[in-house]
Amino acid sequence: MNDIKAAIRTIPDYPKPGILFRDVTTLLGDARAFRAAIDAMIAPHAGAKIDKVAGIEARGFILGGAIAHQLSIGFVPIRKKGKLPFDTIGQSYELEYGTDEVEMHTDAIKPRERVLLVDDLIATGGTAEAAVKLLRRAKAQVEGASFIIDLPDLGGAGRIRAMDVPVATLVAFE
Ligand code: PRP
Ligand code: ADE
Repeated sequence: MNDIKAAIRTIPDYPKPGILFRDVTTLLGDARAFRAAIDAMIAPHAGAKIDKVAGIEARGFILGGAIAHQLSIGFVPIRKKGKLPFDTIGQSYELEYGTDEVEMHTDAIKPRERVLLVDDLIATGGTAEAAVKLLRRAKAQVEGASFIIDLPDLGGAGRIRAMDVPVATLVAFE
């Protein structure tokens, strides 16, 4: 995990003053770290039977696509509102100021399909919580969630575990 942590770049004051932005593009560009991260995101859920990977826009698409390929299963994009072309269901969630919404195609999940949720980072957990609600409204069984980065001070991983979803994170930053 030290190699994975070392491959993540920190950008101070992005996108706002005071934020330390944890940038995984450097990890994605490093073949060994990228593969190690994908393998480590899959391993904790080895006991679960997974039918599909759902990835959260935007970096969850890159990681989720690689995980779906590795597991030889399909991929479902969970996108910011207004980006998907077919019929959608949406779920709004609270931001620091205001609200945002994620959407998924109505036919993306069949009832009782077992899904692994994927994103690069969990902070407050608001985005992932909305994604779990969306998947459950589509009658998915959310078997687990994997993130490269946890910001434990913000409590997001605990929030998703409280929804009875097993959560795996690879590295933590304060
Ligand atoms: C980041 C990250 C997660 C979300 C986590 O996405 O990739 O999706 O924030 O925050 P939360 O746990 O507090 O909800 P961002 O909002 O930067 O969107 P982007 O991937 O589309 O750039
Ligand atoms: N999303 C929320 N907080 C973040 C951070 N510190 N770095 C990258 N993405 C984030």
